[in-house]
Formats: sequence, C-alpha cells, structure tokens
Amino acid sequence: MPQPIAPPEAVERAEILRRRIEDANYRYHVLDEPDIADADYDRLMRELEALEAQYTDLASDDSPTRRVGARATGGFAEVVHAVPMLSLGNAFEQDGDTDREKYREVADFERRIEQTLDRKAPVFSVEPKLDGLAISLRYEDGVFVQGATRGDGAVGEDVTANLRTVKAIPLRLRGTGWPRVLEVRGEVIMPRAAFEVFNERARAAGEKPLANPRNGAAGSLRQLDPAVTAKRPLAFFAYAVGRVEGGELPDTHSATLAKLRDWGFPVSPEVDTATGFDGLIAYFRRIGEKRNSLPYDIDGVVYKLDDYAGQQEMGFVSRAPRWAIAHKYPAQEQTTKVEAIEIQIGRTGAATPVARLTPVQVGGVTVTNATLHNADQVARLDVRIGDSVIVRRAGDVIPEVARVVMERRPANTVPWKMPSTCPVCGSELLREEGAAAYRCSGGLICAAQRKEALIHFASRRAMDIDGLGDRFVDALVEFDMVHTPADLYALTVESFVRMKALADERDGSIPETVKQGRIATKWAENLVASIEASKRSTLPRFLFALGIMHIGESTAKTLATWLGSLEHVRHTPAPVLRVLPDIGDEVATSIAAFFEQEGNQAVVDKLLAAGVVFADEGAPSPKLRDRLGLDVLLDAAKVPKLGPKSTATLAKHYDSLDALVKAGEHQWIVAGVPQAAATNLATYLADAEHLAALRDADTAMRRLAAALPAKAASALPLEGMTYVITGTMETLKRDDATERLESLGAKVAGSVSKKTTGVFAGEAAGSKLDKAKELGVPVHTEADLVALLTQHGVAP
Ligand code: IVH
Repeated sequence: MPQPIAPPEAVERAEILRRRIEDANYRYHVLDEPDIADADYDRLMRELEALEAQYTDLASDDSPTRRVGARATGGFAEVVHAVPMLSLGNAFEQDGDTDREKYREVADFERRIEQTLDRKAPVFSVEPKLDGLAISLRYEDGVFVQGATRGDGAVGEDVTANLRTVKAIPLRLRGTGWPRVLEVRGEVIMPRAAFEVFNERARAAGEKPLANPRNGAAGSLRQLDPAVTAKRPLAFFAYAVGRVEGGELPDTHSATLAKLRDWGFPVSPEVDTATGFDGLIAYFRRIGEKRNSLPYDIDGVVYKLDDYAGQQEMGFVSRAPRWAIAHKYPAQEQTTKVEAIEIQIGRTGAATPVARLTPVQVGGVTVTNATLHNADQVARLDVRIGDSVIVRRAGDVIPEVARVVMERRPANTVPWKMPSTCPVCGSELLREEGAAAYRCSGGLICAAQRKEALIHFASRRAMDIDGLGDRFVDALVEFDMVHTPADLYALTVESFVRMKALADERDGSIPETVKQGRIATKWAENLVASIEASKRSTLPRFLFALGIMHIGESTAKTLATWLGSLEHVRHTPAPVLRVLPDIGDEVATSIAAFFEQEGNQAVVDKLLAAGVVFADEGAPSPKLRDRLGLDVLLDAAKVPKLGPKSTATLAKHYDSLDALVKAGEHQWIVAGVPQAAATNLATYLADAEHLAALRDADTAMRRLAAALPAKAASALPLEGMTYVITGTMETLKRDDATERLESLGAKVAGSVSKKTTGVFAGEAAGSKLDKAKELGVPVHTEADLVALLTQHGVAP
C-alpha cells in the first residue's frame, strides 16, 4: 500500500538518487564522459521509482522518473513565444576564384558589421548549423516548466511532455546563478547512428523509414504519446537564449554558451570563436572537412557577432538578425538518372537492389551507385530503370536513392521486380516470412557470399589478416582455392604463386612473377606470415569474424565477457543466450542457429585445429550467477499467462526442471501458481519438442553454472572493500577496471564517503579526489590499481 508521508530517510534517499541520476545524464550528454554502467543507472532508476511508488508525497514533476508522462489528448496547446524565435539569413557559395568572391555574401555580412560598428575584425561566435527542430525551453527557479516548438516564430506548440523524455534536456538546472526565468533555445536532433538503426528496424518490419534525421527529430516531438518519443534516441544542443528575468547573463554570446553548459545544457563541442572574414572562412572549411564524420547532420555553420551590445546596435531586418548569418554547405542531394538496377549479394546472402546511376557530384564526391535497400523500398519509391531520381549522401553512409522525380519519368517504363534467382550462383532468392530482405539460398555455394564472408573474416577489426584484400580473396574464390575461412590457414607460398599465375593467365598478361627472370615470392611470404600471425587472436574478434547474422563487435564482446570461452558460446542455446545483456530474441536465435549448423561447427573445429588461439578465454562472468535459474528459462518460454511472479514461485519450489515436471500441475497450484497459468504450462510441457528444448537449455545453464568461479564468499580477496575510481585512466577503461575489481569481491561506488576503502585517481580527477582528501580516504594511482589487479591474477 502506498503511504502518504515519507520518513526523512526516504526523502533524503530520493534526493540523493535524483541527484545521482541527473549527474549521470549530465556526464553522458553534456560532458560526454559517462561514469556509470547502464545496468547501475537502471538500478538507481528502479530504486527511485520504488520509493516514489511507496510514498505518494515523494512524487515531483522534476523527478527523472517523470520523463515519460501521460498521453496528450487532441493535439498540442499553443505557446506564444515571449521573445520571438527568429530565422537566419543564408549565404551560399557563388562562382569566383578568391574566397572573397566565392563567399561574397559572408564578406558583405562581415563588412556591414565592421562599417556599422566602426570596428575592425570583430569577434564572432561560430557554430555548426544543426539540422533538426528548433525548440524553446522555459525554466522558472531552475525547474523546467515548458517547452515549445518554433512554429511560425511567434507561436509554437507546447511539447513539454515529449521534451521531458529527452535525457539531454535538464529537468533541473545545475550549479548556481541562473536567472529566475530563463528561456533556452536550441535544436533537437536525431543523431545519424540512431537514425540508421531506426530505419534499419523500420525496413526490416516493412514499415515506412524516415526520410532523414531531421524528419526523425520533428516527427518524434510531435508524437501524442510521450512513451513513443521516449523510445527515439534524440539529442539536444543549446545555441541561444530567449526571455531572461530576475538575473543577468554575461556580455557575450560565447560566455553565455559556456554558462549554459555549466547549468547542464549540452552545447556542441564544435562551437568556437573566430575573428574577421578570414577567421569565419577558416572555420567554415574546418567544419566542412569534419562534416561527414560528425555524429549528426549539419547543413552549414552559423556566425553570430559575439558581443550583445554590438548585436543590439546591428538590429534586425524583417525576421532575421543583421548580426548573424547561416553559411550553407553545398547540398548533399542531387538529381541523376537510373541506368540499371542490379542485385548485390552480401555476406549473409542478403540481396540488395542497387541503382547504377549516371555519375553525378554529390557534396564533392562522384556517385555512380546508390542503394535501394530492399524490394519493399523499390516498390515504395517505385523506382524504374530510366527514372530521374534524387540521390542523397549523409555522412559515411552509402549514397541512397531518396525519391523519384515523377514529372520527369519517360514513357514506357515498367515497374521493377525482384529476380527469382541469384545473379551470382543461380540459387533461388527466398524471402523469410516477415523479413524485408530476400536472401540467396546458396549459402557458401554462392561465390558472392563466400567472398564477402572471407573479406569480413580477414578484415582489420576481425582476424586482421594484413594484406589479404578484396582482390586476393576474389581470386582465391574464383579459382576454387578457398571455401571456408578455415581453408585460409592451409594456404602456402606455393598456393599464392599458383593463384597469381592463374590470374595472369586469365587476364592474358605475362606472368609478373616470372618477368624478372626469377620467381618473386616475397609478397606471398608476407601474406602467409600475416595469416600465421592472425592465429593469435581474441575471442571477441573471432566471434565477430565468423560473420554470424546480427553479431557486431559489441555483441561479440558481450558474448566473450559473459560466457568466457568459445566452448560455452558454441554450445549455449538461444533461451540461455537471451539472459545476456543487450541480447534479444532475434540475436539469440541467430547465434544459436549458426552453431546448430554442423557445417559451421566443422569450420570452427578446423580453425581451432589450424592453431587459432585466444589470449582472453576464461571462466564465465560471476555476474551470470544472478541471471541463471529455472525462472529465467520459464520466462523465455513465454507460456501464456505464466508471468514473472509465477515463474519466480516455481523456481523457489523446484530446484531442477525434472523436479518441476515431476510435481505436475496440481502441485504448482498448491505452490501458488494461478490455475490458468499452471494449465498452460502443463500443456506447454506436454509437447515433446518444447520439453526437449527446455531440457537443452537447462543442461546448458547447469554447465555454465558449474563453470562459474567458486562463490565461497570468504575466498574472494577484496570482499568487504569499497573503492571509487575517478578521473581518466591511461591503460584501463573505468568499466573494465570496475568489472575486474568486482570479480575480486570489491564494491565499486560512485561517490566517496567515510566508508570508502580507497580512491584510485587518474588524470584530471576532480571533486571526488577533493572529497577523499577531505575525509582522509587513502588515494592511490592508476599504477597501484594495476598492481593490485595483477597481484590477484586479473591483470588488464
Ligand atoms: S540561432 C537569431 N544557431 O536555424 C538566430 N540557429 O534559420 C536564431 N539552427 O530555426 C537561431 N543551428 O532551427 C541558431 N547554431 C545555431 C543553429 C540554428 C541550427 C536553426 C534553427 C533556426 C534556424 C534559423
């Protein structure tokens, strides 16, 4: 039962939790220095939620638990902006040879300021022009009270509930000295990576992808249900202030941005100051070079006269200030013609339609191909051979066809259809139920898949076989010298020389290897040496190299750290894999399906027999202990009506699957499982296939549990110790150090107290170090930490 009045300890604890959670948000979104693991963050959040649920008077609108609020009914209310949200004049590139000619509009802008203010080379705040949605955030007494879109500049929409879900937006201001009323303006954006992930999922689910990250940001904020917005990974950067009451801001814009950062707002790290025309253009170029590698889209840079007095004097023309201008980069979109649509077969057999285009310059690069993603996308866009299309480049992403210019469609075009067979091997192209992609059913019979699989296997972040590039792999596959990655380890200098001779013969060229009158083999020796060197690998690299569908580097790392050894990874069924962090049903199924194929297990065996070894194998993570259990298995079975409460009850009563099965439906009900759930479970277990799968999973779990490091509490050397790690470490990541210390039984805390055993302080340690000194807690160096870990056999 919720209680109305919280005792002082609960009030205090709630406040500590809120501060810690907000601090974690600030470190993540503003400082870009996360200091807490996701799991710990979630734990704090759950504790706070529980407290607030227990004591009704603890509820508070600015609590981090309130980021997701109630659904809006019937649209958004209007908000009249106290200070209008202005637009900016644009400067585009013109024809000319010199910078002053090409950037005439910028030169005019800068000269006008020099003349009006009678000042040489004025100072500007220079910033990226973020391509998202402009919003205004109102804080009263340091608390976020209202957020609105720009709308027409005078009146916007109240999207407060949605903005609360954006973790980069502070609900309470940090520090001190903020005005009583403060309106902060900035851009909500969808980072490119998040946009890609979103579209990838949308395409796989056969839903409409977002046209671009800006639409992603705008669409997310206009959701009526904040829970939907909360799931979209949005970011925010502040770049201006609106109404200010009851307090003062600095005299310059750059100093104001610095203050905003102190108060908890993310400000783009690209923000800088520049002097005079030359300074502006140098910034334009510097950001232009970085543009494609920034994590978010920008369409230009913004120059703002830095001092507010000067801004005041310059004033406005219509709706745009005369003290600021947006300098735009050339468009990332161009129109061109589709000459053909071909199918490309990827590593996992996915058949991707690709448009061959009349070459066109897009944002400074020549584009000749653009991806059409999948058959659904071609149908949605209705791209046909002969069409004029808009192609778009964004970041390092492969160019894509954005849309067809229908007005320019020639007569007699026909809708495009996915071919029924693979253009490389002739096997059937099949579409899994519910999936967007067609796949070549040829597997490793298909030379295209074999090539891609080998190129991936040898790539730098996988097995890192130096020098084995696409060209060699192509030839090895073409001459049937390599079928699986394991075959690479059987190649000799002679094999490569023979491969080269065959390639020369095919090309009709004089064999280069014998041209100088002797056989040159140095290159082949080097290759063989690289292949040999790649045998000493690590488990995450190896798992990544296998090219299992959905297994990127981070999943490979998760598998390796949690399961410890290849033996466990290759013999763990999907329901058990599912208990690992960040491994969902789809990924777990994909891993298990890969290892269920005897052919794949044989390749793994061959690789091991060839001498591939991992330096980093060990026992499964002790953290696994809490995740293994009968309840976890039953949860994964997803028996209708059998909820977590029932599965927990069953796990408490029966210590094995056999005991559970033997007891039977009636006993389960006696144990406290509701009738309907018990009946469903009995039906489920009556199916021999289900029972067999469950037994497999149970066996795998027991095997893992048996491999866990011995629990014997007293045996852990650092039991009872609490450490704090602060500052930047040179050789160790904080998460990594934490994990190692925890494996020795120590606790790693986020803050220093009298009870802290010791603090390990790295470079630029701040308040925690001060606190330790103040409380007389021993302070150690990174070298001490490494020595401690080494002493206990868990050296980094
Ligand atoms: S300042 C008085 N700074 O550009 C100037 N705007 O055309 C008000 N924008 O609606 C805006 N990045 O959506 C400013 N660093 C930046 C910006 C920026 C993007 C957008 C914003 C605004 C539009 C103005």
